[in-house]
Amino acid sequence: MIKIENLTKRFGERIAVAGIDLEIKRGEIFGLLGPNGAGKTTTVRILTLLSKKKSGSVKICGYDIEKDSERIKELIGVVPQHMSLDQDLTGRENLVLQARLHHLKNKAAMEQRINEILEFVELTDRADDKSRRYSGGMKRRLMIGMALLHKPKMLFLDEPTVGLDPQVRRKMWDLIRKMNEAGMTVLLTTHYIEEADQLCRRVAIMNRGRIIAVDTPQKLKEKVGRVVVEHMEADGMINNFFDNREQAASYVAGLNSNATVREANLEDVFIELTGRRVND
Ligand SMILES: Nc1ncnc2c1ncn2[C@@H]1O[C@H](COP(=O)(O)OP(=O)(O)O)[C@@H](O)[C@H]1O
Ligand SMILES: [Mg+2]
Repeated sequence: MIKIENLTKRFGERIAVAGIDLEIKRGEIFGLLGPNGAGKTTTVRILTLLSKKKSGSVKICGYDIEKDSERIKELIGVVPQHMSLDQDLTGRENLVLQARLHHLKNKAAMEQRINEILEFVELTDRADDKSRRYSGGMKRRLMIGMALLHKPKMLFLDEPTVGLDPQVRRKMWDLIRKMNEAGMTVLLTTHYIEEADQLCRRVAIMNRGRIIAVDTPQKLKEKVGRVVVEHMEADGMINNFFDNREQAASYVAGLNSNATVREANLEDVFIELTGRRVND
């Protein structure tokens, strides 16, 4: 679906994307996981034609992002990191505005499509309220609705759940899964470990403009060891990784201090690879 080769981007002297290679397959939910400043938004903005790359090649559905940009615009939908709504307008009015941008001219067809979208993102009841009055989750759902209007094949979501309560975040995951089950390929960025782990079929871990690992969450965790023993030593907290609970237990038996045994997560993978935490 997407093939990225040696993509780079600079802002002056600063290298935001330092030569990444990535393939995203049709039908997957793919996550770009990394801390603030890793280069996730810059990458998404290049893929969605909002920013120009410095070098490298990007193909979406076989089309080159520079040569075939008009074709690509029809194939993709984008939900940016920051609010892209007109909050003085109702949900429905925002959708009408978006429909005009996509030159959906037939009035009846447009109204029908907008009603379908409102149903899909569960905003039918509140369609005619000013979007300013919506909760954070509802605003995010409206932005998704706007991105889906022209029936794209692939959706980009930049930090889709940032700032949402855990419960609302889970509802957003359900919506993303529902779109994916309906055939949508999804690329999302996140700095939430759990989101990458629970929602994504494959995850690319990004740090300082580079992709340092790509795999399923399960495989990434297996590489560091599935089970973690955390215990206090004189120089601080120590993490030790094991392939299974038995090995972890026999290690714990030999310790003098108290220890916690838990499943490894993607944060552990990130720390092993970079020596720092995703969210510090
Ligand atoms: N418009 C810009 N001008 C200058 N530097 C930028 C701009 N956008 C991003 N950067 C820099 O590029 C790097 C990557 O940023 P970004 O892609 O936003 O990261 P992320 O989305 O992973 O938090 C950061 O160091 C950031 O400060
Ligand atoms: Mg970002």
